[in-house]
Formats: sequence, structure tokens, C-alpha cells
Amino acid sequence: MFLGLDLGTSGLKALLVDADENIIAEASAPLQVSRAHDGWSEQNPDDWFTACATAIAGLGVDLSGVQGIGLSGHMHGATLIDANGAALRPCMLWNDTRAAVEAAEFDADPIWRQVTGNIVFPGFTAPKVEWVRRHEPDVFAKIDKVLLPKDALRLWLTGEAVSEMSDAAGTSWLDTGARDWSDELLALSGLSRAQMPRLVEGSEVSGALSGSIAAKLGLPAGIPVAGGGGDNAASAIGMGVVKPGQAFVSLGTSGVLFAATPSYAAAPESALHSFCHALPGLWHQMGVILSATDALNWLAGVLQEDAQSLTGDLGPLQAPGRTIFMPYLGGERTPHNDAQIRAGFLHLGHATDRNAMVRAVLEGVTHALRDSFDAMTTTGTKIDSLIAVGGGSKSGYWLQAIATSLNMPIQLPAAGDFGAALGAARLGRMAATGAGAETAVAPPISGVIEPDSKLVPAFAEAHARYSETYRAIKSLR
Ligand code: XUL
Repeated sequence: MFLGLDLGTSGLKALLVDADENIIAEASAPLQVSRAHDGWSEQNPDDWFTACATAIAGLGVDLSGVQGIGLSGHMHGATLIDANGAALRPCMLWNDTRAAVEAAEFDADPIWRQVTGNIVFPGFTAPKVEWVRRHEPDVFAKIDKVLLPKDALRLWLTGEAVSEMSDAAGTSWLDTGARDWSDELLALSGLSRAQMPRLVEGSEVSGALSGSIAAKLGLPAGIPVAGGGGDNAASAIGMGVVKPGQAFVSLGTSGVLFAATPSYAAAPESALHSFCHALPGLWHQMGVILSATDALNWLAGVLQEDAQSLTGDLGPLQAPGRTIFMPYLGGERTPHNDAQIRAGFLHLGHATDRNAMVRAVLEGVTHALRDSFDAMTTTGTKIDSLIAVGGGSKSGYWLQAIATSLNMPIQLPAAGDFGAALGAARLGRMAATGAGAETAVAPPISGVIEPDSKLVPAFAEAHARYSETYRAIKSLR
């Protein structure tokens, strides 16, 4: 048996599979995000450990046969650890944009893009640690290790400070082509390699489950913990997106369009992310939008309903109406790199009702994903097949809107929710047994959402109005 642990923004999921990848048990524990100020987004690392124990206990089965564990988690978080292994402050998450000034300053020096292949986005780790250096110097002075969220979970599980390439690529300190920390960039941050975790590949062993934690969790002591992957690379392993031409669209808290690339393909000017994949010798590109289901959940919260009931009675796909929603609740990464922009509804009329607003939110996220698709295809990346993953993919309306906007069929996996956790379990199996990349196969497909060809022009037109709206509102602060 292999255990995949996916530390998501809204909850930690544990997935237990057998050697043939039959799902034996699955359990989750919820997590909250604290937003003390506009643009801030934090979690307390202790909550991850509690959620991990709760989710594993929730599996409700005998775990003595578990042979390996794989980890996945939300990327870019700055978890600052002191010499005793304790977190110095709450973790600043991937969608925390307070470090916009620090990010812009770093990004103005061409060395960062040259080495990392990426814009220094405010949500990436290095500018957030720079923010701490400037605003919380006492905390900065005590940093023994800077860990990504799933790597903090690993420290708790194994006592080892280790990261792997896919997540490390989102720190702004990795030489992405060379798959190694850049001493030069670390020095520009007032840090050194000694403060960074050791690097392994996602499919390699990173450490062994410690005896005390094993006893607490009911797992065998000493079993290998794989490097794992950032949640997007781990999803790709779960979805079998490991070869050029293969891609997935993820509708989670964030929205992601992810494509495996034949080699390292840096294109920072596009605001795409060019990162290492979770398997050796592989890279990928992705467009990231900061609010996908987050936008729908926001509207659900305002209307005091749940997201599923909001999307449940929309009927067949309609051409986008006049009402536009710009989904920039916490700024945007691809294609704008704009931490200051905020969301908005436009063209509300007397006739605008609840469903028109819900459709506008789904369409706004759809247009944002179309921006990423355009950015990606402009760099020459080919997408031959697209598969959907994430909680939002439960909405057939949303998926058909995306298929129509991209004018491309979208495949629905039979086990749609298990992308990153399954990918983590697969990486756990690779590390424990030496199984190779060939085990990262595509899941069984339960259906294909076809574009509605009659509505393709209407979605293209609406996307053009959406882009024009961004240009019109971007200077309004
Ligand atoms: C990717 C990103 C998000 C997080 C949360 O760059 O920031 O997708 O990994 O899922």
C-alpha cells in the first residue's frame, strides 16, 4: 500500500492505494486561511500537522502494510524554521501578495529571470522572505531553514529538511535548468545554501518516517518518504501528464493550465511559470490564476449558499451575457503579474439575477484560463490533450465553458478529485519500489466534454471584451 498526502489550501487529503492503484481509503481534514490584511494569506504550520494526523486517522483502516509515502502541497509558501525546528511565524502562502514591492525590485535585476526562467512574482518564496527581512528583522535573523509547506510536513514526519525540484522551482532561488539552488540568488536574499533544504527528485527517497510520528499515526516506522511534488506537478503525475502535448486544467482554489514540455522552456515575458517536473529530466510550463474556486466560493459566501448549489441549476451552456466578472480577488499572476488589481462585476443591469452573476464568475475564470492558454500556445507549447482536475471540475457547466473558450475537448477522469494525492502516492511508490515514470499513466476517463461549436465565437468575443476591461480598469486603484 502507498499513502499520498496532499496539503491543499482548503484541506489536507490522505489517499491510500494498493499496489494496483485501487483506492483503499481516502480522508480529508479542512484547513482555514487567515487574511489579516488585504493581500495577506497565511496558515499556521501546526494546523497542517494536526490536519495530517486527523486525515490519516480518518482513513479508518489498518496501515501496517503501508510501504511508502509521497507528499504534495500548495507551492511557494515561506515556512521559516528556527534552529529547534519550530516555525518562527505563520507561513505566508502562494496567494499572499504583500511582497509586491520586494518582488518588483528583485525582478528589475535581470539575473533573477536569467537563472530561474521566471518572473519573480510576489507570491513566490524569495520576495516574501525579503519582506520578512525588511519588516520582521528579528524573525529573519533566526531563520535556520526556509521550507516549502509540504517540506515542513516532511520535517515533521521524518526530521529531515529536504525539498524536491518541482516545488523548489517556485521559490525564485532555483537554477531551473540546472536543477540546483543558485548561490548567487540566495546571497542576494541575505541567505545561504545552508539555510535551504537538501534537494532530491520527486521520485527519490527523501527520508524515513520517524519512530515517534509513526507510532502516533499508526504507520510502520522507517518507511520511505518520497520527494513528492508541488501540488501541480503532483497532479500531473496523477493525471499522467508527463509527455509533450499532454496538459491539464485544474480548478482548485487557484486555476492552473499545466503542460509538460519537451525540455526546459523559459518564457518569463509571458508570465507563464517554467518549472521542473517532479520526475528527473522533465520540465513543464503553467499559467496560474490566483482565484478559481476561490472566486466561486467568495460569491457563495456573499450569497450565503454553497458553491455546488450555485452551479447546480444553470441549465445548458449559454453565450456569455453582458455582465462581466474580473476574478482578481487577490491580484493576478498569468498573464498580468499584477498584485494590485482587484475583482469587479461590470455591466450589472436591473435584469441581472443570481444565475447571471454565477455565470459571470464562471466565465471570468474561464477567460482568465484562456489568457494562460493563449500565452502558452504563443510560446510554441503544443496542447494535444487536456484533462480536468480539482473541485471545480464537478461543474459540467464550467468545464463546457472552458472547453468552448479554448475550443478543445476536456477529458474527465473517473476519479476527478484525486489528482495531487494520487500523484503523491505514485511518487511514494516510485521511491519505495524503484518503479519508473511509466507508472504515471493517465487515469480511466469517465467522459469527454466537447466544446459547443455554436458558442465558440461568442466566447471569443466575450474574452476580447474581458481583456479590454482589464486594460480599462488596471490603473484604477
Ligand atoms: C502555483 C500556485 C498554486 C498553488 C496552490 O504556482 O501558486 O497553484 O500551488 O495550489
